[in-house]
Amino acid sequence: MKPDRANFVRVLYVCGVGFAAWATVGTTASPAAEREGLSANGRKGLVVSVSRLATEIGVQTLESGGNAVDAAVATAFALAVTFPEAGNIGGGGFMLVAPGGAAEPAVIDYRETAPSSTRKNSFETTTTRLGHQLAGVPGTVRGLALAHQSYGKLSWQAIVAPAAALARNGFVVNQPLADSLNAILDDSKRFAEFQRVLGKHEGREKWLAGDRLVQPDLARTLDRIGHDGPNAFYEGEIAGQIVAEMQAGDGWITRADLANYRARLRPALHGTFRGYDVYCPPAQAGGICLIEMLNILENFDLRRQGRWSPETLHLCIEAMRRAYADRARHLGDPDFTTIPDKLTRKDYARKIASEINRLKATPSAEVAPDIPLTDAGPQTTHFSVIDASGMAVANTYTLEQSYGSRVIVRGAGFLLNDEMGDFNWRPGYTDRRGAIGTPANQVAPGKRMLSSQTPTIVMKNGAPVLITGTPGGRTIINTVLCVVLNVLEFEMTPRDAVDSPRLHHQWFPDRISCEAGLHRDHAAALKQLREMGHEIYLYAVRQGDAHTIHIDPASGQRTAIADPRRDGWAAGQ
Ligand code: DON
Repeated sequence: MKPDRANFVRVLYVCGVGFAAWATVGTTASPAAEREGLSANGRKGLVVSVSRLATEIGVQTLESGGNAVDAAVATAFALAVTFPEAGNIGGGGFMLVAPGGAAEPAVIDYRETAPSSTRKNSFETTTTRLGHQLAGVPGTVRGLALAHQSYGKLSWQAIVAPAAALARNGFVVNQPLADSLNAILDDSKRFAEFQRVLGKHEGREKWLAGDRLVQPDLARTLDRIGHDGPNAFYEGEIAGQIVAEMQAGDGWITRADLANYRARLRPALHGTFRGYDVYCPPAQAGGICLIEMLNILENFDLRRQGRWSPETLHLCIEAMRRAYADRARHLGDPDFTTIPDKLTRKDYARKIASEINRLKATPSAEVAPDIPLTDAGPQTTHFSVIDASGMAVANTYTLEQSYGSRVIVRGAGFLLNDEMGDFNWRPGYTDRRGAIGTPANQVAPGKRMLSSQTPTIVMKNGAPVLITGTPGGRTIINTVLCVVLNVLEFEMTPRDAVDSPRLHHQWFPDRISCEAGLHRDHAAALKQLREMGHEIYLYAVRQGDAHTIHIDPASGQRTAIADPRRDGWAAGQ
């Protein structure tokens, strides 16, 4: 991909980040900790998301008798209105539910699928991440409906209605959204419907904090989904609008693709770490990597070495490097590829741990000699919910890049994803810059593209302890690893566990990306890592946005922690 202007903006917005954000986070001393909405306690229920209005709709849903899944579905629909960067009905994601009692945690997999006319080589020469052809068949509406049908208590219509009202009446744009809209509008001139729906009118060019964003087309679409159910989207009038949009823009999605789309209810992937049970999505999401890394790191006494010691950081990086190499080697939609069981087994992790050189970085090329190498910003959102009964939900969903493909379905008011970019586009082409061309995640009709999304629930004796997840593309799995280790291994307060600086290694590029706080506060450790052979890169934007709930197993105290890296809001009852 060429380093053009779109890419530059993508780098800035990949994670919906402003530069202001990283100055205040990535350190355990959190000056932002005082702001309203940054944390909340509540015995009856808690919701934490990137958007105040969406969080409040979640809490109101709990107050009107809904359970955690009702609240999660209402929050997800509200985010589709208030957080157009990633909140969506035209994308997909994963909802992890721990229902409580004897019921096992399960995942609603509503990942998008490849349209039926795409093939392994369909994107081999594609150079853009924008436009109609990048859209996968959306999964969100069937996913939220499956969650509601499997676990919800309130009526579907009652859950969708608040989001429709918000779109119809409009809401006040805050500074982060104004900044993000202004930047993306400037970079999306060729998308006329995008400009019409999200552009600034009334004679002014730029969005200002305090302006009102009204979305009448989206309100009608949500009303239809609320009244007629999910089939309105997949088989009814909205399906017709999507197909007309595809035909106008030379896209792939057909009526049959929409009608055939199914969300899946799957058992959650289960791992353990120091006596805690860790649940996350299986197969084509980030769970396998997370469990593999935790299993590797369980073989070391990280706590004794200290959170920020070069030894701990080195071991985390070496675990990341190896798990991400396995991701490239093996992972893809399990309906299309066989995923070895060993990846989440303790004996496999023990062997990997025993092979790690404690004194020196292992070059990434050495951990996967079987994958031939060629030399040669994004946005997602996560929210967490718990209700009075202890039912817990971790939901991550996305349009892939910020504002997805930039294609708004004409007259329907919602954005389509650009998730086809998560497939391995060039079969056989794996390079040191991070392109992956291995077979497991090549394009095939009906196939779900590989995702890093890792909504995670940690439990102790059957009760939730930590509900977390994050945006951030391939960094997602490592952000979740950082938060989980901070709580379980380093016993940080939940606030520090979320705020403290994060780091990332994804096999290739063979370098460690570090948030600014690490450079600022742990320069000596980074110097030592360089001496061990690691390349270190200053990650100039924040890594992730992990809106998290912690439940103290001893006291039962529940705390929702909004990640201050963007604009989160926690509330409860
Ligand atoms: O599913 C995935 O792994 C990616 N589509 C997620 C993209 C993402 O997180 C961008 N956000 N910051």
